[in-house]
Amino acid sequence: MITVMLKLFVLLLIFFPTFIIGLSAYNVKSLGAKSDGKTDATKAFVKAWNEACNSLGKSKILVPKGRYLIQNAIKFDGRKCRSTTIDIDIKGSIVAPSDYRALKDSAIWLSFESVNGVTITGGKFDGKGADLWNCKMSGKGGCPGGATILAFSNSNNIVIRGLTSLNSQLFHIAFIGCNNVKVQSVKVLAPNNSPNTDGIHVQSSNGVTILNSKISTGDDCVSVGSGTSALWIENVLCGPGHGISIGSLAKEMNEAGVQNVTVKNVTFVGTQNGVRIKSWGRPSNGFVKNVVFQQCNMINVQNPILIDQNYCPSKVGCPGKVSGVKISDIIYQDIHGSSATEIAVKFDCSSEHPCKNIILDNVKLTYKDQPSVSSCTYADGSTK
Ligand SMILES: *[C@@H]1O[C@H](CO)[C@@H](O)[C@H](O)[C@H]1NC(C)=O
Ligand SMILES: *[C@@H]1O[C@H](CO)[C@@H](O)[C@H](O)[C@H]1NC(C)=O
Repeated sequence: MITVMLKLFVLLLIFFPTFIIGLSAYNVKSLGAKSDGKTDATKAFVKAWNEACNSLGKSKILVPKGRYLIQNAIKFDGRKCRSTTIDIDIKGSIVAPSDYRALKDSAIWLSFESVNGVTITGGKFDGKGADLWNCKMSGKGGCPGGATILAFSNSNNIVIRGLTSLNSQLFHIAFIGCNNVKVQSVKVLAPNNSPNTDGIHVQSSNGVTILNSKISTGDDCVSVGSGTSALWIENVLCGPGHGISIGSLAKEMNEAGVQNVTVKNVTFVGTQNGVRIKSWGRPSNGFVKNVVFQQCNMINVQNPILIDQNYCPSKVGCPGKVSGVKISDIIYQDIHGSSATEIAVKFDCSSEHPCKNIILDNVKLTYKDQPSVSSCTYADGSTK
């Protein structure tokens, strides 16, 4: 009798491992998704999420090889989840509709809201942004704003690993109001003239780490918005793109500050900026403090080191005004390479709140194989 029960148990374990060890796995293909890249798979993905979210304990969503068209914007809501973690393993590609109008006014294509313990491994996300960029660049107007490919908001304990994000209509990946996020071995790829296609955007978030990633795009490789703290960026290749940017800040009068940011071992190739801090020339009670940029390699970068507190592109709401953002304790250490313009270091700070304690330690940048020059306005600090 015992051996019969044992055999039965072993059989159960072989055929229903998830049943025995309490891991529930949901395969989008079993839930009706077609991997032909032409049939809308939205329903199957929503179903997989609902099943995984309702499972007790750990759950898994599997996306096998193939192409899955997601014709609609999806909100993966975590507020009522019973699961402790959800692992989303993607072997295939997730493809946006080729007609950008299909996403209507959605600002985000795949939006995770109030989720906890979600890990996405692998996957190629194709935003099909080219037609919308062309619409925007034609200057005719009437184009929708476009959608970010993947965003997490008000979420905790998130891991994104080995994901590729292609040709987003707007930002590629965004974290807003998140805690404890790890982004590793991610690739972002879009042409250098694609508008507003920031690689990774971090805002109002604490404890975001971005490691070992490669970002080539038409806007900032990483953009850092207000309210960000404990951000760590290391081993990243950026270019083409607009560099790593804290800001634009001073969008609002009441704005949370940015603090404790480390950017380490980043190579910038042919980018518009290297490491930049940028604020509108407008009143604000925001600030930027405790930032370290270290071991960065600049290859033919237009503005390798830049603080710009007089940002006012459309000349609306700022002329005649001064930035209220207080910038202090910023370290530039071991920054080497070449500038594509004569001024490699530019600090254009606020006349009302001059930049404080800016430290340059072993910064060696050349322009046409000669030492480059720097320009400072209302900046206080030291060079080692
Ligand atoms: C920033 O770093 C300082 C010094 O390590 C620490 O005391 C402070 O709590 C940190 N603040 C945030 C919001 O992470
Ligand atoms: C610096 O980052 C590159 C990836 O961009 C990586 O290959 C290299 O090993 C890193 N160097 C160190 C010292 O960590």
